Amino acid sequence: MKEQPVGIFDSGIGGLTVAQAITKVLPEEQIIYFGDTAHLPYGDKSTAAIQAYAVKICDLLIRQRCKVILIACNSASAAAYELVKEYVGSKAKVLNVIDPTIAYIGQNYPGRTIGLIGTKQTVNSGVYERKVEELGSDIVLKSVATPLLAAMIEEGFFNDSISESVINAYLSDEGLHGVEALILACTHYPLIKNQIARYFEGKVDVLDASQIVAEHVRSYLAQQGLAAEQLAGDHKFYVSDYTYSFEESTRIFFKRQVHLEHFPLWE
Ligand code: DGL
Repeated sequence: MKEQPVGIFDSGIGGLTVAQAITKVLPEEQIIYFGDTAHLPYGDKSTAAIQAYAVKICDLLIRQRCKVILIACNSASAAAYELVKEYVGSKAKVLNVIDPTIAYIGQNYPGRTIGLIGTKQTVNSGVYERKVEELGSDIVLKSVATPLLAAMIEEGFFNDSISESVINAYLSDEGLHGVEALILACTHYPLIKNQIARYFEGKVDVLDASQIVAEHVRSYLAQQGLAAEQLAGDHKFYVSDYTYSFEESTRIFFKRQVHLEHFPLWE
């Protein structure tokens, strides 16, 4: 079982930031990545729609013999984690990108005021608030939906003046006033981490969930005795809708261009 791949999925190619962090921390693990580009963005979709997509994707990842399925999308983690865990049952372990971040802030920021930015689905689900409440560590969480950011990044607008204006407009929202750290609760946002850090002039810790999640996957696999000892095969990257521009953009998110295979979900 150890040499079986780690399955990772996202609404599109943003989750490649998490896949990239995982390949860095766990170079022996083979990755099977699925980006549901036919249905992106998930951030504006209903919970029921995201659950239906997630179940289909898990069928594919189980067929690919994945030992673990990581939901590398905050919107899908918020909408579908519990359902997917039940659906997958004993066929694979299921992880999400929310719980490791919650554990991290619980350890590092008890009693502090933390901000969060993410899609409408993630923020409106209230899942982070619920889990912070369950922690019982007196953290005050202030969340603001920033729906333009993922689309902006996918269109290549980052590290420029357009993105700076959009980022400044969102971060100056009163809802984030007084935060001491900010959770980037969307797998696209590591790409604008530096711009966000600059906005706060070093006064707010910017928490890059992709690194927190990669560390969590590493300790989880070790704990479960599931860590691969050597790379069993090439990584594979599937998308439900293929365009050349998706393939080109993988360079932005994965730090190198990868070959995307088209795998339609609904046939
Ligand atoms: N990657 C998704 C997330 O982490 C955001 C993009 C989308 O809306 O599909 O929530």
